[in-house]
Amino acid sequence: MPAQDSQTVLDVVSWIQHNTEPTLAYRFARRVGMCGSCAMMVDCVPRRTCRTHVQTAQRGAS
Ligand code: FES
Repeated sequence: MPAQDSQTVLDVVSWIQHNTEPTLAYRFARRVGMCGSCAMMVDCVPRRTCRTHVQTAQRGAS
């Protein structure tokens, strides 16, 4: 996936599901960071993936 500045973890998971692993299952709703349905463990930290930028997760910040 081409890296982008404001890329979220959910963007990456969606790209993987659409382009390399169609059996990958995940949930999300409106991508506005309110419902929590996109929550996943990211590097051992529970996060709303639609609001977690990849660069933030890589730094280990919350
Ligand atoms: S899709 Fe609802 S919080 Fe992320």
